Amino acid sequence: MAEITSVAVIGAGTMGSQIGLQTAYAGRHQVALVDSSLEQLEKARALQQHLTRRAVERGRLTEERATAALGRIQGTTDLGGAVAGADLVIEAVFEDLDAKRQVWSELAAHARPDAVLASNSSTIAISRLVDGVPGPERCCNMHFFHPVTVMQLCEVVRGPLTSDETVRAAMDFVRSIQRVPVLVNKEIHGFIVNRILFAAAEEAFRLLEGGYASVEDIDTAVKKGLNWPMGPFEVLDFSGLDVFYGALEDRRRLEGGPGAPAALRERVERGELGRKSGRGFYDHTSR
Ligand SMILES: NC(=O)c1ccc[n+]([C@@H]2O[C@H](COP(=O)([O-])OP(=O)(O)OC[C@H]3O[C@@H](n4cnc5c(N)ncnc54)[C@H](O)[C@@H]3O)[C@@H](O)[C@H]2O)c1
Repeated sequence: MAEITSVAVIGAGTMGSQIGLQTAYAGRHQVALVDSSLEQLEKARALQQHLTRRAVERGRLTEERATAALGRIQGTTDLGGAVAGADLVIEAVFEDLDAKRQVWSELAAHARPDAVLASNSSTIAISRLVDGVPGPERCCNMHFFHPVTVMQLCEVVRGPLTSDETVRAAMDFVRSIQRVPVLVNKEIHGFIVNRILFAAAEEAFRLLEGGYASVEDIDTAVKKGLNWPMGPFEVLDFSGLDVFYGALEDRRRLEGGPGAPAALRERVERGELGRKSGRGFYDHTSR
C-alpha cells in the first residue's frame, strides 16, 4: 500500500468540500475534488475560500498557509482521471445506495490496485458497496462529521473483508489531517456516534409524545443536566430532520423494530427539515 500523498474526494457537497479542505490544510497531500456538477464545484470553491479567509481573520491560519492549502485542491468533473492518480479515494456522494453503487463501480474501474478506497457514508456500511470491486480488503468506511473543519472525529469502520493494513492506513491518514480516528471493529448500523444519538433522540421523542415534557425543556434538561452542548431536538434541527428520518428508516429495514416517530415523520412530510428549511422543532427564520 503506497504512502498517501494524493487524495481524490468524490462529491463536492457539504462533506466532500470540507474533507478536501481539511486534507489540504495539513499540507501533505494533493487533493482532487470531483463532482458531476460544475456549479457544485464552484460552490465548493467559494465555501473553501470563505472558510479559509475566516480562519485567517481569526488567527488560526497564516495567509501563506491558506493560499498554499487552496492551491493544493483541484476541482474536476473527471472522476476517472482524478481516481487514477490517487493513493486514497474518499467517496462522499448523496446518501443513496444505488447512486453510491454506481460511483463505486466507476471508481473501482479507475483506481490503482494499491489505493485505499473509503466511503464517508453515515449509514451505508462498506460491505454494501464493494460487490464486484477488485480488492475489497482495501475498502473501509471513513465517517467524518459536519462541519469537518470543526468536528474532530472520524469513525473508521472495518468491513468483514477489510485488511489490517487498510485500517492502519486509514487511521494514520485521519491523524495526518489533524482529526481524531476511532475504530469500529465490526459493521453496525449508525456506527458509534449515531447509535448513541439515535438512542437519546428516541427517548426524547418518547418523553415528548407521552406529554412528559416540551421540546424546549427536554433540550434544556440534556444541556444543563448532561452538559451536552446541544439538546437532541437542536441536534436534529442542525443536521436535518430528513437525514435523521432516512437513517431511522434505513435501520428499520436492516434491523427491524420501530421506524421514525410520528412527531418526526409529520414534520418531514410538512417540509419542516430544521435549519436548512427555516423550521424544524424550532423556528429558525429569526435566529
Ligand atoms: N451532511 C452531513 O451532515 C453528513 C455528515 C457525515 C456524513 N455524511 C455523509 O456524507 C455523504 C455526502 O453527504 P453530503 O451531505 O455532503 O451530500 P451533498 O448532497 O451535500 O453532496 C453530494 C455531492 O455529490 C455529488 N454527486 C452525486 N453523484 C455524483 C457522481 N456520480 N459523481 C460525482 N459527484 C456526484 C453531488 O453533485 C453533490 O454535490 C453521504 O454519504 C452522507 O451520509 C453527511
